[in-house]
Amino acid sequence: MIVLGVESSCDETSVAVVRDGKEVLSNVIYSQIKTHAMFGGVVPEVASRSHTEVITYVFREAIKEANIEIKDIDLVAVTEGPGLIGCLLVGINAAKAFAYAHDIPIIGVNHMTGHIYANYIEHDLKFPLMALVVSGGHTELVLMKDHYDFKVLGTTLDDAVGETYDKVGRVVGLPYPAGAAVDKLAHEGNDTYKLPRVYLHDDYNFSLSGLKSAVINLNHNMEQKNIEVNKADLCCSFQEAVTDVLVDKNIKACNEFNCKQIILAGGVAANKGLREKMELRKGNIELSYPSMRYCTDNAAMIAVSGYFKYKIDKTSGMNINGNPGLYL
Ligand code: KG4
Ligand code: ZN
Repeated sequence: MIVLGVESSCDETSVAVVRDGKEVLSNVIYSQIKTHAMFGGVVPEVASRSHTEVITYVFREAIKEANIEIKDIDLVAVTEGPGLIGCLLVGINAAKAFAYAHDIPIIGVNHMTGHIYANYIEHDLKFPLMALVVSGGHTELVLMKDHYDFKVLGTTLDDAVGETYDKVGRVVGLPYPAGAAVDKLAHEGNDTYKLPRVYLHDDYNFSLSGLKSAVINLNHNMEQKNIEVNKADLCCSFQEAVTDVLVDKNIKACNEFNCKQIILAGGVAANKGLREKMELRKGNIELSYPSMRYCTDNAAMIAVSGYFKYKIDKTSGMNINGNPGLYL
């Protein structure tokens, strides 16, 4: 079964062609990161316009690179949410027009399930599994007992992990998006600054805003006292604090639900500190994470998720709409 995936929920315009949920024939990504970097974050209107400008080229390139004919495509899968509404609508309308013109069924996919299913491209999924979904907009601990069976055990009550990385990066003078640079700097420093670990009421929810404020306040206080902050040490201390909580809660949940596998998903799954700590503490549980190119936003993961969704529920239709606050 050949699925064409479309992703445009934030600042990447991507179209991919995937065979049987596993074999990526093409995965074309046009990233707008450079456009938004000067603003220190994604500007929604600029992002929507940029998607509109490139989406038809990205479609054409993905089909050409996959070396298939349009009549070979069995399904179109498109991100319907969560994301920025203007951005989502560009991908959805392009996907609908394409599906309608070529008489191909279409299915809407939740972006977060895409991040989870990015793992399937290079690994098999072993149920029950615990997925830690950590991106610029999301922090979720998700139990899966089978394909397309998602139970959200916990989520962030305030900021997402990726968002916090980007803010901390800004404090130490790194350009947006700062996650990867903070991760790199953290590996050059030591855990010397005392920062809080927020465990809340021992449940599976997360809270990141207190830690973010602690970093900002520490930096501000030192500036006022004219003491230079050691950026590498601050990044390392921050990363240790974040990953301690993420890993501890994940392992606890795995033990409670007898999970066979932990999967990391979303842009922050690229974080080396998180991967290393999870590796150290996971015991006999198998750990999987996507390679870098499938961690951040891409349409291959949407095609894979669409493939599994369609196997379970063949509902498709032209009534798909953008849903910025779509939940798992
Ligand atoms: O999943 P994604 O591409 O977009 C969203 O759906 O949000 O995630 C982007 C986020 C950004 O906040 C970025 O700073 C973060 O992922 N990120 C990282 C790393 N690489 C990307 N955060 C921590 N460590 C990394 N190595
Ligand atoms: Zn994402």
